[in-house]
Amino acid sequence: MDARRLTSPPGPSAPLLAGDRVRLRPVLPEDVPVLAAILAEPSVARWWRGYDEARVEGELLVGGAETTVWAIEARLDPAGPPVVIGGIQAWEEPNPEYRHAGIDLFLAAGAQGRGLGPDAIRAVARWLIDERGHHRLTIDPAAANEHAIRAYARVGFRPVGRLRAYERMPDGTWSDGLLMELLAGEVVG
Ligand SMILES: CC(C)(COP(=O)(O)OP(=O)(O)OC[C@H]1O[C@@H](n2cnc3c(N)ncnc32)[C@H](O)[C@@H]1OP(=O)(O)O)[C@@H](O)C(=O)NCCC(=O)NCCS
Repeated sequence: MDARRLTSPPGPSAPLLAGDRVRLRPVLPEDVPVLAAILAEPSVARWWRGYDEARVEGELLVGGAETTVWAIEARLDPAGPPVVIGGIQAWEEPNPEYRHAGIDLFLAAGAQGRGLGPDAIRAVARWLIDERGHHRLTIDPAAANEHAIRAYARVGFRPVGRLRAYERMPDGTWSDGLLMELLAGEVVG
């Protein structure tokens, strides 16, 4: 994730978006402990490190000027109500000469591996392209995050380069990332 998105004042409220099976809505104060609990799950904390409630509030509830954040809702039990299964955010480059947007997301362990991540990404990608006028979207998973890379490829993102020594690990070592891009017209599904 890119630290620039974390330093600006609050941005606009997220619009309601719908995928085939997910609904995206603005993050509410009552979502903060729910999202913090999801981020504490080992399969999520491995890739989104160090998110306690204060950090969730600052980054996912308040956000920044170039960042839009949604809570992701879905029915995990077909007979039950929609529940919050994760979060997704879009960061928009403010310099028009380099206009593009980046996407990050996380899903609770119980919601992973069902195609819900790609569904949420498609909804945000279509909003960024159709409503926000972006021609280029990026996503930058850890090079070791095979599930994420497969999920993003399913939406049409293509790997364009290895980001060497990109992300600092808790032990102080640097880990590689993978830059993936999607141009307008390339959304799959
Ligand atoms: C990465 C993530 C957003 C992908 O969304 P998703 O809805 O799980 O994606 P998919 O259902 O398309 O799954 C992608 C692949 O990973 C596999 N997978 C995902 N989660 C899995 C799990 N918990 N156990 C086993 N396999 C899993 C799927 O089977 C699928 O494999 P396939 O391409 O061979 O069919 C989601 O798994 C997640 O939030 N993971 C934890 C946090 C994270 O890694 N965030 C991304 C940081 S860049």
